[in-house]
Amino acid sequence: MMSKTNQQVSTFRVHPSLAIIKYWGKQDSVNNLPATPSLAFNLHGLYTETSVTLTDAQDRVLVNDQLADPPRYHQFFDNLRHVLGQDVHFDAISTNNFPTSAGLASSASGFAALTCACVKAAGAFLSPETLSGLARLGSASAARSLFGGFTLLPAGAEHAEQIFPEDHWPDLRVLIVQVAKEKKSISSRNAMEQTRLTSPYYTQWVASSQNLVQDAIAALEVRDLDRLGPIVRLSTMRMFGSMLGAEPPIVYWLPSSLVILRMCEDLRQKGISAWETMDAGPQVKILCEASDVATIESTIQDILPEATVLHSQPGGPPEEVAL
Ligand code: DP6
Repeated sequence: MMSKTNQQVSTFRVHPSLAIIKYWGKQDSVNNLPATPSLAFNLHGLYTETSVTLTDAQDRVLVNDQLADPPRYHQFFDNLRHVLGQDVHFDAISTNNFPTSAGLASSASGFAALTCACVKAAGAFLSPETLSGLARLGSASAARSLFGGFTLLPAGAEHAEQIFPEDHWPDLRVLIVQVAKEKKSISSRNAMEQTRLTSPYYTQWVASSQNLVQDAIAALEVRDLDRLGPIVRLSTMRMFGSMLGAEPPIVYWLPSSLVILRMCEDLRQKGISAWETMDAGPQVKILCEASDVATIESTIQDILPEATVLHSQPGGPPEEVAL
C-alpha cells in the first residue's frame, strides 16, 4: 500500500505522431505488434498533457473530463506494474489541445504521455526504447510518439526508433485540415481488425508496405518532397483500399475530405508541392514546404471556408511539465 507521504504527481506533454507510411493491421493482437512498418513524425503544437498520481484505489484515466474505457487500459497498467516491479495503481488526468478520437492520433500522444507520467510518478527511470515498448501495448502508434524527429516502427517491432532528428528537415510543414470535429464512427483498433479478418486486399497491403517504407526513408534522407509525396500518397490510398475491401466496408472520408484531396491534385498541377495523407478519420493532412504554406492555406479557405487549418511541423520528444 502507498502511504500518502510517498505520493508523487508527474505531468508530461507529448505530441501525436503523424504517419507518412501507415501502420494498419496487427501481426499479434495480444501483444499489439504491428503487421506493417510505419514511418512518422510528431506534430509540433498539438499535444496531450497527462498528470498521474499514485493511488491506493483502482487505476483510473480521465480524458478531457470523461472516464476512459477501462478494458483498453487493463493490460497496459498490468504490464507497467510488472516492468516497474511495483504493486502501485495510477490515477491519470489527460487533456488534448486538439480534437480527440477524430483521426488526429490522440491515442498515440495519449498512451505515450500516460506511460511517461506513470513511470515518473512511480519514481523509475527507463530508456526511451523501454518507454516506447510500454506505450505500444496501449496503442502501437504511441510507440512512435516517444521520440522527437522522424521515427520508424518496424513490422513486428516492440519499440520505435528515431531515424532522423527533429531539425533534419527545417522547411517541412504540415497543414492539418479539420473538416469535422465529431468522434470517428469506428475506432482504428476495431477497424484494422475488421480489415485484417475480412478484406481480401489485406495481405497485399501488408506486403506492399515493406517496399514503400524503404523508398520513403531514402526520400526523407535527401529531403525531397516531390519524391516522398507520391510514396506517402500511395501508403495512404493502399491503406484505405484495404479498408474498402473489408466486410462491411470501412469509410472514414467525408465529401469535404475529397474536396481537399482534389485540391492537392490541382495545386500539384500548378507546380505547388502539396501532398495529402489521411488516417482513421475525415481530416486531411497536407505535407508541403514552408514557402508554399500561405498559398495552400488561402486555397483551402477559398474552397472550404468552414474548415479549420492547423499548422504544424516535425516536433520534439515528450516533455515533463513542472507544475
Ligand atoms: C491510421 O495506433 O490507434 O493512425 O495500436 O490499435 O491502438 P492501436 O491503433 P492505433 O492506429 C493508428 C492507425 C493510423 C496509422 C498510423 O498512425 O500509423
